[in-house]
Amino acid sequence: MGALEHTRPTEPAPRDTLPRRFGAYHLFDRIGRGGMADIYLASAKTELGVARRVVVKEILPGLSADARFAKLLVDEAKLVSQLRHANVVQVFDLGREGDRLFIAMEYVEGYDLNQLLRRVSERRIGLPAEFVAFVLREVLAGLDYAHRASAADGSPLGIVHRDVSPSNVLISFEGEVKLCDFGIAKALGVDDHGATTRGSDDESTGERSKVAGKAAYMSPEQARGEDIDARSDVFAAGIILWELCAGRRLYRGTEEQMLALAREGAIPPLPDRGLPHAAALQAVLDRALSVDRDARYPSAEAMLRALDAWAMEAKLFASQLRFASFLSEHFEVEVVEVRRARERAAEALLAGPPVEMEPVPREVPDTLPETAPPVMETPGATPPVTAPPASRGRARLLALAALALATLALLATLALLALAWS
Ligand SMILES: Nc1ncnc2c1ncn2[C@@H]1O[C@H](COP(=O)(O)OP(=O)(O)OP(=O)(O)O)[C@@H](O)[C@H]1O
Ligand SMILES: [Mg+2]
Repeated sequence: MGALEHTRPTEPAPRDTLPRRFGAYHLFDRIGRGGMADIYLASAKTELGVARRVVVKEILPGLSADARFAKLLVDEAKLVSQLRHANVVQVFDLGREGDRLFIAMEYVEGYDLNQLLRRVSERRIGLPAEFVAFVLREVLAGLDYAHRASAADGSPLGIVHRDVSPSNVLISFEGEVKLCDFGIAKALGVDDHGATTRGSDDESTGERSKVAGKAAYMSPEQARGEDIDARSDVFAAGIILWELCAGRRLYRGTEEQMLALAREGAIPPLPDRGLPHAAALQAVLDRALSVDRDARYPSAEAMLRALDAWAMEAKLFASQLRFASFLSEHFEVEVVEVRRARERAAEALLAGPPVEMEPVPREVPDTLPETAPPVMETPGATPPVTAPPASRGRARLLALAALALATLALLATLALLALAWS
């Protein structure tokens, strides 16, 4: 399978001092940097006092200062935060902290679809057809739910994702598939201007130009800057399906060239890769990727049903559990390492003062030696974040004090019970 990684130009993330307080959140690990935000793993205190792990998307300064963007983002986030579905990353909170806008959302521990495809490609294992069908059906189920969502009074919310692309499809190590970043593209004005102007829109900050790379998944009407509806997302899902089946990117070239291709929407037939019931699969793709949106599947649900029919005909069976087994069979070492690194970062948050660190690398070597070093000790990476000895000692003292208190409480209870009986 060919590498499908985005070629979005992103600057290397600057060093950061973590953990750090950010409003109600403690940011303790930076897990990514997209075109518009830094992505942090954070902990938030819940009402019960339990710390909940969330992702905080800290919008880059230039965009945070853009009043038009901020208003659109807030408007969209108000709609999106009403969504509750297994295939949609839940948005918990949106606000401003200092001069930065932020969105807090559900943490999906795993890979985005781009990262998964790259791993699958590096290991030359290919994504089995049953999981191609599974990933797509989950994406479509999330889209269908969001497209149909309505307010409490029954009026439709009119949500269209506008940026259905592999980096917005998150895959958890438990085999869940969740779509994130609903509505953000609208705030970025993607469909108002198209990617051409989007690319040069924000010379003052230089940030909007980095939100490139998504022309590759645009419907013809979106690329032409026309009004779009849910069928535009169906087209984008069709491109993802095409790429998963073909094992390569559909459009190649510069952002401008891809945008020109997207406006035309001339999609070549799938290369022959021996997929089961290829003619039926091609028919699904033809309809999903029809330039004329009236000839397209009218809804994500309609495409989902057609895809299911193909999967059944081809006797492809997959479930969340089977997908999780596939992931752990091939990436277990990495899964364990990612989890361990996150735990270490979380422990550092509890135990010690902030340390200067770079983000935990998402990439680990392909093969790890038997006695694999912790993920953050791989060459070129920052040393692991461990609690400083002094604070470890303090933590131990606290634990002993707690134990002593618990013992005293137990003794007091026993004494009271004995008194009550005598
Ligand atoms: N809720 C989340 N849980 C886990 N990882 C996440 C979450 N949200 C984002 N990520 C990770 O952070 C990466 C960057 O996300 P971000 O949305 O900022 O950029 P992008 O999707 O790559 O590009 P764009 O800015 O154009 O949307 C994602 O690709 C994903 O790997
Ligand atoms: Mg994204």
